[in-house]
Amino acid sequence: MCGIVAYVGEQDALPIIIKGLKRLEYRGYDSAGVALLNDNGLSVYKKKGKVSELENSLLDNPHLNSKIGIGHTRWATHGEPNDANAHPHYSSTENFAMIHNGIIENYEVLKTDLLNKGYVFHSETDSEVFINFIEDIHKNNDCTLEEAVRLALHKVVGAYAIVIMSKEEPDTLIAARKGSPLVIGVGENEYFLASDATPIIEYTNQVVYLDDYEIAVIRNNKLQIKTIENVETNPYINQLEMELEAIEKGGYEHFMLKEINEQPRSIADCMRGRLDAQNGRLIVGGLRDYINKFQNADRIIITACGTSWHAGLVAEYLFEEFARIPVEVEYASEFRYRNPVINEGDFVIAISQSGETADTLAAIELAKSKGATIFGVCNVVGSSIARATHAGSYTHAGPEIGVASTKAFTAQISVLTMMALMLGYQRGTLSETKYIQLLSELEAIPSKVEKALLLNEQIEKISEQYKDARNFLYLGRGYNFPVALEGALKLKEISYIHAEGYPAAEMKHGPIALIDEEMPVVFIATKDSSYEKVVSNIQEVKARKGKIIAVVTEGDTSVKAMADHVIEIPHAHEALVPLISVVPLQLLSYHIAVMRGCNVDQPRNLAKSVTVE
Ligand code: G6P
Repeated sequence: MCGIVAYVGEQDALPIIIKGLKRLEYRGYDSAGVALLNDNGLSVYKKKGKVSELENSLLDNPHLNSKIGIGHTRWATHGEPNDANAHPHYSSTENFAMIHNGIIENYEVLKTDLLNKGYVFHSETDSEVFINFIEDIHKNNDCTLEEAVRLALHKVVGAYAIVIMSKEEPDTLIAARKGSPLVIGVGENEYFLASDATPIIEYTNQVVYLDDYEIAVIRNNKLQIKTIENVETNPYINQLEMELEAIEKGGYEHFMLKEINEQPRSIADCMRGRLDAQNGRLIVGGLRDYINKFQNADRIIITACGTSWHAGLVAEYLFEEFARIPVEVEYASEFRYRNPVINEGDFVIAISQSGETADTLAAIELAKSKGATIFGVCNVVGSSIARATHAGSYTHAGPEIGVASTKAFTAQISVLTMMALMLGYQRGTLSETKYIQLLSELEAIPSKVEKALLLNEQIEKISEQYKDARNFLYLGRGYNFPVALEGALKLKEISYIHAEGYPAAEMKHGPIALIDEEMPVVFIATKDSSYEKVVSNIQEVKARKGKIIAVVTEGDTSVKAMADHVIEIPHAHEALVPLISVVPLQLLSYHIAVMRGCNVDQPRNLAKSVTVE
């Protein structure tokens, strides 16, 4: 949550920062600001609203030339979204300005102390306390800003990625991180700092990922990295492999639509180099060093949040069916706070698109401390979760910018399916014949998803009829139960229509009371082992005059006779169906949200990377 960007070099800083902030808006978009330094001094400009509003407010300002600057786009934690709470924050002398992504948990204690010393605060944020705390140390210890930052970091509790600029050192940026991400782009005589690599890639592909408890000092065009114990470390330069076009809309009206349509490719990318169905080969490379632990695990614990948690639920079905290992799927936020039983024989899989979700990271640390093996399934390369786990596999879905997750979900399921098949085969719980059959079915998934995308126009028409509904119910069984949850989540996230996902059979234990002619019910009723049962559930809804939208297998006639609308998707083995059946639900929520005039890519109150607990 919150995106930060900074620049120092020979170019004009402002356009670089504004463009970078727009790329990071998925992390928060309730207010934005920049700080620049030139002959007029150190100036902060900030504004409630989107980055474009900040940009417009600066259009006629002639004092913005600066070769150094910092910028921030905010997702409010402390204090409502307004101009005052927006970042950057000045220190009280206005000698320093800081951007911060994270939360300082002991800010109240620090604030009381500073208030007693006469400091005055202009915002309700923990971040303003943080920069004043640094200034206070700087003043009282008569030390450099760098030293003051180092001392302050020993005292603050919480999470941060910060960048500070100073009037006293006009060519210097000081940055640090703990718990929130920070990437440094190394260009020719210039440096870029950002919460992720997307603001950086058009300038350089050389990046350094700052680690927790590290401080980066860029001074006189030189980058130095030290630990907070003041020990200098050698910056490790990574080569970015991201392409610029991957983070642009490429002719689509919204990132979400682009990302939905990218799924045939992103699923194929995820399987590339891992799956070779013709030769009966499947290798999930990341598992190599931990394969024994994986095969002999007493239990698999999957931990994640949001859409990633839904992918985890699909994986539960996959691992239990094919590898016969008991699986528990845990909301990371619950898992970490309830003193769970974790043993050394447990294999923990953490799933995260961003690789930065604070609750998932904390769950990983907890499981690690109990001796479990932790495997990450992440999309963002070099992210905190990818680095905090013992091993892992990237989903290779490419950057996902729309806040509502789509292609990351199907890529996560693809990786987890490959893991389950590999595990089942190696443990002997999945026969060779079935294994080979599933490998070739898996390989055919991208083309089936391609076919499902052709349903777009039909789904758009259905959306027209239901765009004003106040509630929606999504029902599915077996592998399609998590898909029902995901369909409901997509709809509520971006269209603000109340939607609930349920296992179809549970409907009679409560939700059935809600059904009347006003209630659209989306059934995922593909031909699988629970098909007949789902058909009975459809009848129950029909008898109560609910409106039925059913996702069925191509050629289905029974459901067609009952439903108001059927959406026919290609046939697949039931274990692989979620990869296809979720696509029409993504499109349904997309079209409904567009028709309701909602901001599809940046829904209200949400953020894509949730770095607060
Ligand atoms: C936020 C996003 C969701 C995402 C969840 C978990 O709520 O809006 O789309 O599923 O975080 O994020 P992660 O990056 O860990 O998958």
